[in-house]
Amino acid sequence: MTTLKTTVLGIDFENPFILASAPPTAKISSIDKAFTLGWGGAVLKTITPDDLLMVEASERYASWKVGPKVYGFENIELLSHMTIQEWLDGIAFLKQKHPTKVIIASIMAPVVKEEWQNLVKTFNNTEIDAFELNFSCPHGMPEKGIGMAIGTSAEISAMITKWVMEVAKKPVFVKLSPNVTDIKEIAKAVEKAGADGLAAINTVQSLMGIDLDTFAPYPNVNGKSTFGGYSGISVKPIGLRCVAQIRQASNLPILGMGGISSWHDAAEYMCVGADVVQVCTEVMVNGYAVINAMKQGLLNYLESKGFESPQDIKNRAIANLTAHEKLNKERQVYPEIDDSLCIKCGKCVNICDESEHSALSLVNNHIKVNKDACIGCSLCSHVCAKSAIKMK
Ligand SMILES: Cc1cc2nc3c(=O)[nH]c(=O)nc-3n(C[C@H](O)[C@H](O)[C@H](O)COP(=O)(O)O)c2cc1C
Repeated sequence: MTTLKTTVLGIDFENPFILASAPPTAKISSIDKAFTLGWGGAVLKTITPDDLLMVEASERYASWKVGPKVYGFENIELLSHMTIQEWLDGIAFLKQKHPTKVIIASIMAPVVKEEWQNLVKTFNNTEIDAFELNFSCPHGMPEKGIGMAIGTSAEISAMITKWVMEVAKKPVFVKLSPNVTDIKEIAKAVEKAGADGLAAINTVQSLMGIDLDTFAPYPNVNGKSTFGGYSGISVKPIGLRCVAQIRQASNLPILGMGGISSWHDAAEYMCVGADVVQVCTEVMVNGYAVINAMKQGLLNYLESKGFESPQDIKNRAIANLTAHEKLNKERQVYPEIDDSLCIKCGKCVNICDESEHSALSLVNNHIKVNKDACIGCSLCSHVCAKSAIKMK
């Protein structure tokens, strides 16, 4: 019988879909609702010592949209606004009402040993299942020497991981930033420092755009802005690449995220090493109920392929990622046009001409392929609006 259940570091997840640390996990009532709807767990909005004052900007978001569809958010939001005591009470409430759900406490503190260790000790004796160390927030916090300022330094990341591991009584995941030259280096450093698992990615540092009348960058805060964090479906290729690279460097369990909006995205993350996936922006755009289609879709896929659980697809694509020089250069593919789909718009012909190959032409109301001129690059198939071109 196929199941979505999965166990990571002794923690039982009833399904591998959990909410990422973000607005959907900033309130106890929201997490309660999410658990009732079927999410397997939640990473709490990043908790800090009470005296780390958070004053937010308004507006906090800019978006990349094509028509009504949101491809990504840039956000400049900071961390949790709840006090430690409010979180302690909230965790007790949630665990009493939803004992099978996984709760992971995301934490961040100034680069001071006692501050990190005190935060960990405070949550050690709660019913949380694990910690996630936020070394990766790209805005606001780096100005204070924390967030991504930690995660871009292998040395500081390792030092704080060691401090935490000295006192942590629960498994510890370290959440890594994609905004580094070599994510493998940071992953290896925190693994060596004793981390139990890794999480990736946090948001991608970004600048969404400029108002060309006022020259104010977005999100516009009284004419000024700051670099923010990009999330949502358009960051998936970056997240997938980061998780694959982490898996190539480490065997630790991985909580994978970045642009997951469907069971298909989740399965892809698992194929490159994720044990469990986290979702944020998709919930902010389409609501908590997206979990139903995600769970059903993944279950159907696993069943149809004869897999017993998500663990069966873990790492399956890793061996297929290789160096460019090892790719089979003997292979040559050519476009094959499906006349029943082709609308003869000529886009493929134009782009091939623009690229100076001129391998395609419209002859007798049919796109003809000149194999002697074609380099098999596949560009024509990607610009076709009707998916009428397959490379064969
Ligand atoms: C508005 C917003 C606030 C976020 N706050 C946090 C945070 O407090 N702690 C954290 O670790 N990640 C935070 N994130 C990052 C998400 O947890 C996640 O890593 C990122 O958004 C990528 O996933 P997604 O594409 O599914 O949104 C935030 C993301 C957004 C959009």
